[in-house]
Formats: sequence, structure tokens, C-alpha cells
Amino acid sequence: MKKIGLIYSFNTNKTSQAAKKIGEEFEAGQIDHVNAESITEQELLSFDNMILGVPTWFDGELPNYWDEFVPALEDLDLKGKTVAIFGNGNQKGYPENFVDGVGIMAELLESRGARVVGFTSVQGFEFESSRALRGEQFTGLALDFENQGNQINQLIKKWVEQLKQEFQ
Ligand SMILES: Cc1cc2nc3c(=O)[nH]c(=O)nc-3n(C[C@H](O)[C@H](O)[C@H](O)COP(=O)(O)O)c2cc1C
Repeated sequence: MKKIGLIYSFNTNKTSQAAKKIGEEFEAGQIDHVNAESITEQELLSFDNMILGVPTWFDGELPNYWDEFVPALEDLDLKGKTVAIFGNGNQKGYPENFVDGVGIMAELLESRGARVVGFTSVQGFEFESSRALRGEQFTGLALDFENQGNQINQLIKKWVEQLKQEFQ
């Protein structure tokens, strides 16, 4: 498998915790941790396989560091790239916008030609609406530390097994 860029904000609390757990599920040397707050277009394009950490903030929006990178992303050709997205959210606190960021990012990447993988079932979650919803799946891995903190490790292990099949 080609090297995977694991891209998330190093300044986050829960997203960083999740990213570390994800990284540990891969073999040593398979993952490069990259800070989303300082990533350049060139750096992103150096990976064919990527995992993006995209929590949802501001009632259904991307956090600032991703939002600021959106104009750059909109100009990139991502054909041939495979991307998986994990996103922290809070289904009880924000049931109408649960993990919207995962959906916003998936739509954007797909519009630039990327193949988005790592879709997961909505089973076990309770929310009203989500931009990450596609059929009965999320367009990535939804992680709710606030309400389902005891399930995080298991969800991540299962997701990484899935990614090992879906990445080339
Ligand atoms: C001001 C604020 C707005 C939020 N908005 C949403 C939201 O719209 N949808 C959602 O699922 N979670 C929302 N959350 C929950 C965060 O996504 C959740 O706490 C997440 O774990 C934060 O991850 P981070 O600390 O790594 O950035 C919000 C949290 C805060 C404090």
C-alpha cells in the first residue's frame, strides 16, 4: 500500500486523539502525520492516499483551518487520489448538523475528482439530519466523543480494517 497522509489539526484535542489511534492501527512507516493548519497544496498532492480529520463546528460548518484551505482545494485536480474522512461531532448537542463537516468535505473532494472511501453505517447513531448522510451511510467515520466515548476505539479499529481494503 502507498504511504498515507493523515491530515488533521495538531491543535485539536479530540480530533488529534482519534488521529493518533488511527495511526497506531497501521504499520510503522505507513502513515505521515500532517498538520492541516499549515498544509500546502503541494504537500497534499504528494499523497495518493489520504485520511482527513474534519470535525464539525459552528452549527454545521468546517473549522476555520479547513475553511481557509477550501479555495485552494477548489482549484486542485484530485483525480487518482483516494481519500477517507473521519469527523468528530456531537449528535445530542447538534442533532440537525451531526458531522456535517464530513459531508461538506466529501462533496468538495468528489467534485475535484477524488475517490472518497471509508463510508460507514448510521446504525447506532441518533440525529435528525446530517450533510454526511448518503443513503444509510455517512460519507466517512462519525466519532462522537461526548456521547459515545466508549465506542471510539472499536469504531476506529473496524474502520481502519475497511480502509486497508479500500486504499490501493
Ligand atoms: C461551538 C461548537 C459548535 C459545534 N457544532 C457542531 C455541529 O454543528 N455538528 C456536530 O456534529 N458537532 C458540533 N460540535 C461538536 C464538536 O464537533 C465536537 O465537540 C468535536 O469533538 C470537536 O472536535 P475537536 O475538539 O477535535 O475540534 C460543536 C462544538 C462546539 C463547541
